[in-house]
Amino acid sequence: MSTKNAEEIEKRRTFGIISHPDAGKTTLTEKLLLFGGAIQTAGAVKNNKIKKSATSDFMEIEKQRGISVATSVMAFEYAGKQVNILDTPGHKDFAEDTFRTLTAVDSVILVIDSASGVEEQTEKLMEVCRMRKTPVIIFINKMDREGKYTFDLLDELESSLSIKVRPLTWPIGMGDRFKGVYNIYDKGLNLFQASKTKIATDVVAISDINSPELDEIVGEAPAAELREELEIVEGVYDAFDRESYLAGDVAPVFFGSAVNNFGVKELLDTFCRISPSPRGRETDLRFINPSDDKFSGFIFKIHANLDPKHRDRIAFLRIVSGKFERNTFYNHVRLDKKMKFPNPTSFMAQDKSVIDEAYPGDVIGLYDTGNFKIGDTLNEGEKFMYKGIPSFSPEIFQELENLDPLKSKQLEKGIMQLMDEGVAQLFIQQPGNRKIVGTVGQLQFEVIAYRLEHEYGAHCRFNPKNYFKACWLTSDNQEQMNQFMRAKGNYLAKDKDGNWVFLAETPFLLTMAEQDYPEITFHKTSEFKLEVH
Ligand code: G4P
Repeated sequence: MSTKNAEEIEKRRTFGIISHPDAGKTTLTEKLLLFGGAIQTAGAVKNNKIKKSATSDFMEIEKQRGISVATSVMAFEYAGKQVNILDTPGHKDFAEDTFRTLTAVDSVILVIDSASGVEEQTEKLMEVCRMRKTPVIIFINKMDREGKYTFDLLDELESSLSIKVRPLTWPIGMGDRFKGVYNIYDKGLNLFQASKTKIATDVVAISDINSPELDEIVGEAPAAELREELEIVEGVYDAFDRESYLAGDVAPVFFGSAVNNFGVKELLDTFCRISPSPRGRETDLRFINPSDDKFSGFIFKIHANLDPKHRDRIAFLRIVSGKFERNTFYNHVRLDKKMKFPNPTSFMAQDKSVIDEAYPGDVIGLYDTGNFKIGDTLNEGEKFMYKGIPSFSPEIFQELENLDPLKSKQLEKGIMQLMDEGVAQLFIQQPGNRKIVGTVGQLQFEVIAYRLEHEYGAHCRFNPKNYFKACWLTSDNQEQMNQFMRAKGNYLAKDKDGNWVFLAETPFLLTMAEQDYPEITFHKTSEFKLEVH
């Protein structure tokens, strides 16, 4: 590996910000860009989330799709590092998208609302991080509001997210009494001022927490409280160990108020110091390190063109190893063909520009006319496929009905392409070729019907099906598998890759099936494919 490659890799920090909607992800993203110098004023990043009330507002959906291309990857240089933020949709109906984006990051910042604590969606997202051993930093936001008692909140994080925590800053009061945060690491006191525009912070170096200077600055009672709480912190939590953080075992915790630009700089500074540089990924052949000479990467997201007249799409490629170069032939492994890309783009905030080369950790956009599916590998040299873009069992199932028999070809093509983009999952019932579409949210059905009509000229209707889960089936006992197939024929379907799936109507029926056919494994995610070589 050339020294230049090694330097470029070391510099990069590719991460995602995740949160329950409304915890402050958009605000924090914007503030990081502001501190990183990528934008000049707050408010420049549009609110890229669909408000709950707008579920049937198609223009809003379209706008969301347009905006999220522009802000899908935001890159800036800070403290000698190239920081790549990968945006994740906040709306829960797009959770699958978020899960897939998590496969392309090397670490995560989790935003928690100090008043709401851990919410359902946060738990699900953290589960994915745990599965992948992704290092997590937690930012507790909205300290300017009355929130939960800090120690209770930290206990809640540990128990609900099954991860150990380690505060690296500590708040002095909260809500109206919020005075600032004490930086446990650097022994500095950052005094809070409510300001949505100011990005300079007043940091007072306090070398000794027992010095009377602290009482003078924050008042006697808050100073005493801080001393007491810090003593408990040091007693309860192990000293911060970067290796444990990098292994995904311990999450450092920061406190602040994103909307007031408060605590964001500490977060960013520490993030640049401790977060991991690009990591390797597992393939069906072997583990590939970023330092491998040969270029390789995988597609984790596909975005349709906003303009229906242009059917081209943008495929998002995460580079894992080597150096990507413009106009160079690479293997499209699944299709077994060579492809080159004249206009690969990088995504700086709100701006797309053609790039000549890119390095591990980078995400670039490739114009695509239908060659890519989510999970595809692009590489040079020996061929292998990256693993681990999981599908989760959908939660809502509906049967796709064609309303215009003359347009069945368009419908077929459209639905396949939308599935390649990962908009939803398709299960085809055997025999009969009935198409069951599964999603995690109602919104997707509206998006699919709208896009089939506007982009493919096909009309469809969705008829609700009462399935509870789709489980991928594997077994070493062919006899038992055959028995199951005969008994449950009406509830079997194939996913788009031809894997058998059981569509269980209720939790009870699934448990019964698991009991009756003990040698069949019912997988709730397609992650099992990881095991298949
Ligand atoms: P999300 O992307 O996670 O969904 O959250 P977002 O940043 O949009 O923030 C949700 C709401 O919380 C916003 O208010 C935002 O201004 C507010 N917020 C973010 N950080 C803080 C903070 O540190 N303190 C307080 N008090 N509020 C914060 P909104 O009324 O929904 O939207 P807006 O009209 O203010 O944009």
